[in-house]
Parts: sequence; C-alpha cells; structure tokens
Amino acid sequence: MIDAVNVGKEFFSMPAEEMENFAAKDSRKGCKVYTGSGNYGSDDFGLWRDTLQHPCHPLEKWTNIFPDKPAGYRGTIGPYTVEVRKLGIRILDMIYEGLGLTEENYDYHDLLLTIHNYPACPDPSSALGVSGHRDANLITIIQQDIYGLQLFKDGQWIGVEPLPNAFGIPISFSMEVISNGKLRSAVHRVVTNSACFRTSLVNFVNCPSDRLIEPVKSLVSPSNPPAFGAFHMEEYLEVLFGNNSDSEVTGEYFKIKSQASK
Ligand code: OGA
Ligand code: NI
Repeated sequence: MIDAVNVGKEFFSMPAEEMENFAAKDSRKGCKVYTGSGNYGSDDFGLWRDTLQHPCHPLEKWTNIFPDKPAGYRGTIGPYTVEVRKLGIRILDMIYEGLGLTEENYDYHDLLLTIHNYPACPDPSSALGVSGHRDANLITIIQQDIYGLQLFKDGQWIGVEPLPNAFGIPISFSMEVISNGKLRSAVHRVVTNSACFRTSLVNFVNCPSDRLIEPVKSLVSPSNPPAFGAFHMEEYLEVLFGNNSDSEVTGEYFKIKSQASK
C-alpha cells in the first residue's frame, strides 16, 4: 500500500509533458490523465486535482497500457490491484451472502484504478477536490494518506480520517440497485487543504460491463416491488454525462416512481 501511494506521487511529480503521453480518451479502453472533472470549458467551477485512471483486470490484458514511467509503476501497481481486487471480492461475497444471494460469478468483475493528486490549495474554502457524488460501481476501495474525504450523513458532511494501512469502502450505486435499496450508496466528496498535496488510490470494483444491473429477483416481491429499473453501465454513464456528472439526478432517473407519487 505504501509503495503504491509513493509510485502514484512519483507519477504526478513528472513533468507535464511526460504525463500527457498517457492521456487517452476512454479509461475503459486505456489510460487516461486529466485535470479537474476533465470537462474543460463547460464546468461552472473548477476542481482542484489531477487524475490518472486505467482498468486493471485481468492484469495480463491491461498491464501494457499502464504508464511505463515512473520505472516502478507497473511492478508496484500490478500486484497491488490484484490484491485489492481479491479483497473487494471477499467483501462482495459477504455482502451477497448477507443479502441471500449465492449465484454471483466474480470471475469477470472489473477493477478500475483512479489515482488522484490534490495539490496544496491556497484557498481551500473556494475549491473542492471532488464535489458530492455517489460512485456508479458496486463498492469502492479508497486509500488516502492525508485527510480530505467526507461523507454526507444526516444533513451534514462528516470527515473520514485516514487510518494507517486502512481502506475506506463506500457502497456505490450499482450495489444499491442490486440490493433493491437495502444497501444505500454513500454520498461523498473531497475537500482540499493548504498545507500539503494529497494522493488517493480509488479502486472501483465493478460488475462485468455487459451485466444487466437490476434488483435481484430474490429481494423483489409484491410487497417489496423493484425500486429501480434495469440498465447497463453504458446507459448509466450516458445519463450521467448528459447531466453534467450529477449522480443525484442520474440516480433518480433509474428509480421507479411508486404509483402514489406518479
Ligand atoms: C472518487 C472519490 C475520493 C478520494 O474518485 O470517486 O470519491 O479520496 N475519491 O480521492
Ligand atoms: Ni467517489
């Protein structure tokens, strides 16, 4: 974990021209490097961060699109993501057992790694690192070295202090849908600080991309009707990007409104 965060810091310490080599359009197909939200020019406000993102599983398929600089990147991040994915699957296994699901096949579950670099910010009150959102995937495994992550609970933002050698693991939207709302996705954001730069490793554990995401049949009954319609992740992302990356609006889009509120 320590080597992984250090190699992430090394990546963002390289000259901008070096990092630009890894800027591709679609992180599901390759590596992507961007600043802020990546929607240059169309945002109402800027976000205080730089991001590197790429898929990780299966490692043999993706390792050659990982950055080849800094020199230790592939050798460190490869084994790190293999272990993180195993942890994710152990957790999913327990969640699914708790939900009474036994038939899930984990072989094709994806892992998308995002390494964020949040430079020290001269005025933290005027810039966020990531604005409030719910992640789209199943569960997210977050490693942070410096404080910055906050959760929205009971009408207020609550700080998630980093613990040494620990991950923060929010539930994401696909899991909320699959569990038919039994598990709620966590609204979270990242604040900036003026003292030092912060690096986080955000590991998105996801369903296979061709999987239909819908409430599982065993959790749906006449007295407990489906709370969400079925969709593929591609469709979710289309709605999300069409709504300025607003995950609240996007979540509402996939909710089935009860007869009473129609
Ligand atoms: C994200 C996210 C948290 C962090 O990338 O979706 O919530 O600590 N990041 O960087
Ligand atoms: Ni997030």
